[in-house]
Amino acid sequence: MIEHDAISENYETGQVLDKIRAALLRLGKSPDSVTIEDLAPVDEFHIGGRQASEDLLGQLGLSASNRVLDIGCGLGGTARLMASRYGCRVSGIDRTAEFVAVAQALCAWTGLDEQTALCQGDASCLPFESGVFDAACMLHVGMNIDNKATLWSEVHRVLRPGARFGIYDVMRTAEGPLTYPVPWAQSAADNHICSPQAYKQALQQCGFLIIAERNRREFALAFFRELRARLAAAAGPPVLGLHLIMGQSTGARMQNIVSSVSTGLVAPVELIVQKPG
Ligand SMILES: C[S@@+](CC[C@H](N)C(=O)[O-])C[C@H]1O[C@@H](n2cnc3c(N)ncnc32)[C@H](O)[C@@H]1O
Repeated sequence: MIEHDAISENYETGQVLDKIRAALLRLGKSPDSVTIEDLAPVDEFHIGGRQASEDLLGQLGLSASNRVLDIGCGLGGTARLMASRYGCRVSGIDRTAEFVAVAQALCAWTGLDEQTALCQGDASCLPFESGVFDAACMLHVGMNIDNKATLWSEVHRVLRPGARFGIYDVMRTAEGPLTYPVPWAQSAADNHICSPQAYKQALQQCGFLIIAERNRREFALAFFRELRARLAAAAGPPVLGLHLIMGQSTGARMQNIVSSVSTGLVAPVELIVQKPG
């Protein structure tokens, strides 16, 4: 097990599985009956939720024979979506011990534990043989990783030639101070956000080809508008939602990311890259 650090500390609020179980019971569901659709409000920890995952994964050419890697898998929502939707075998890795334990439990609850193998570890030192994955994805993780060159070279190593790698990260789109906390960092010390240009340059230096790039700012703003309308209509947070993960600072974190996207300082950006065949 890797050391507990500021990154894990940012994410570990404690008792996440108990909170999810209690919320499901309030919704008339249980570990025996829960589906990946039921879990979507809590297990997709990125801007745009399930729709954003589907939009990214749809560009990776996944099929049932594939073995796929989910880097920074969090609670495993994207991994379960790939296993369920495409029939892939999915390996996931995440630095935060509690998230991995919850992710494994949720895979068991949804009957996807045989198709998924999620472990704790550092994405910059992947515990996998070279060339074993047919595709990889990484959603809202790069903002926590300073040395992206090491990260990209590890991902490049474990992919087979011709494999695609889909990234969906919050990236820096203009200069200016960010207000903390944000969902991925309590303070500037844990924030390693950088521009799409820096991503592409480092990815190319590691040998990846850039296949597609899409700034998802408008999609994000529409997502935030809908979220705000739903919260106002319900006069409070939903029973099952990301507040169960982010804890007491949910309001401040959400307010700060909405403001940073609105003012154009940051935006969620998709990059699809490929290891040459
Ligand atoms: C905002 S969450 C996104 C989780 C998941 N990808 C999703 O979209 O639901 C960021 C995740 O990245 C993980 N993470 C951050 N740095 C990491 C690293 N160096 N190696 C592995 N995981 C990391 C965190 O533990 C956290 O679970």
